[in-house]
Amino acid sequence: MSARPRIATAPPAKGKPVTLSSLTERKALGEPIAMVTAYDYPGAQVAEEAGVDVVLVGDSAAMTVLGYPSTVPVSVDEMLMLTAAVRRGLRTPMLVGDLPFGSYEASDEQAIATAQRFVKEAGCDAVKLERGGTSVQRARAIVEAGIPVMGHIGLTPQTATALGGYRSQGRTADRALEVARDALALQEAGCFAIVIEAIPSDLTDELMPRLEIPAIGIGAGPSTDGQVLVMHDLLGIYDGHAARFVKRFASVREEMIAGVRAYAEEVRTRRYPEPEHGYTMAPDELARLRELLAAEAPAT
Ligand code: KIV
Repeated sequence: MSARPRIATAPPAKGKPVTLSSLTERKALGEPIAMVTAYDYPGAQVAEEAGVDVVLVGDSAAMTVLGYPSTVPVSVDEMLMLTAAVRRGLRTPMLVGDLPFGSYEASDEQAIATAQRFVKEAGCDAVKLERGGTSVQRARAIVEAGIPVMGHIGLTPQTATALGGYRSQGRTADRALEVARDALALQEAGCFAIVIEAIPSDLTDELMPRLEIPAIGIGAGPSTDGQVLVMHDLLGIYDGHAARFVKRFASVREEMIAGVRAYAEEVRTRRYPEPEHGYTMAPDELARLRELLAAEAPAT
């Protein structure tokens, strides 16, 4: 278990954008980093108002907002549209765009070109990619091209099939060593931070003293420098399977269903709209309209 003190602090002042150095500083001070996903303009406004430090437009959007069965099918263009919408609602948190499956693995050139689109077309501050292995070199190339990169190790959903499904990683010493090596290689490649997903807390505790960059956990225990959750999971908007690490902080889906059901009911019973939801016309204008209509198009 990491011995670093955990200090409860106020979120950074609104209007002072979160930067790479402010994240490094938070790690040094032992101040936990709060990261959340967002996929649209209102979601970004919520993240802004709530005072989180980092917003990720995760490729989890594939499942949470686009209805795909996994993160694999989502395209760069789909991700760019969602990410640009989030950018328009965000001022303070750092914005990280998620490079989707198939958009960075083939070559350094492909990785740099895709990362540049996320910066130029969607206004990202940084990009995230998944896995160790060949992704380490892709991360290095993007960093060398001047774009900050966040790594992602442990359970990497884009390659979940090869990992035996959506299951925790690093539970044997050999696999844990691979996960640790991936983390250290990404750090060495110049990543400014790393997401660690679904690994035993014991493994995280072994990793933390070896990581100089902020580690953001999701199902990796309490000793990371911060936590990330999918917005639709934590708010209870998404109805799909929720992983063990998801804590529901609200039941927004229930509220949404209740609201839409009440609306439909009032439409069907003619209780909505009421007079205050409509617009009025001055009586003399109405009288004149009736005359004009009567002359031009008599009611049948
Ligand atoms: O796509 C995503 O939302 C993610 C987070 C779970 C880290 O990668």
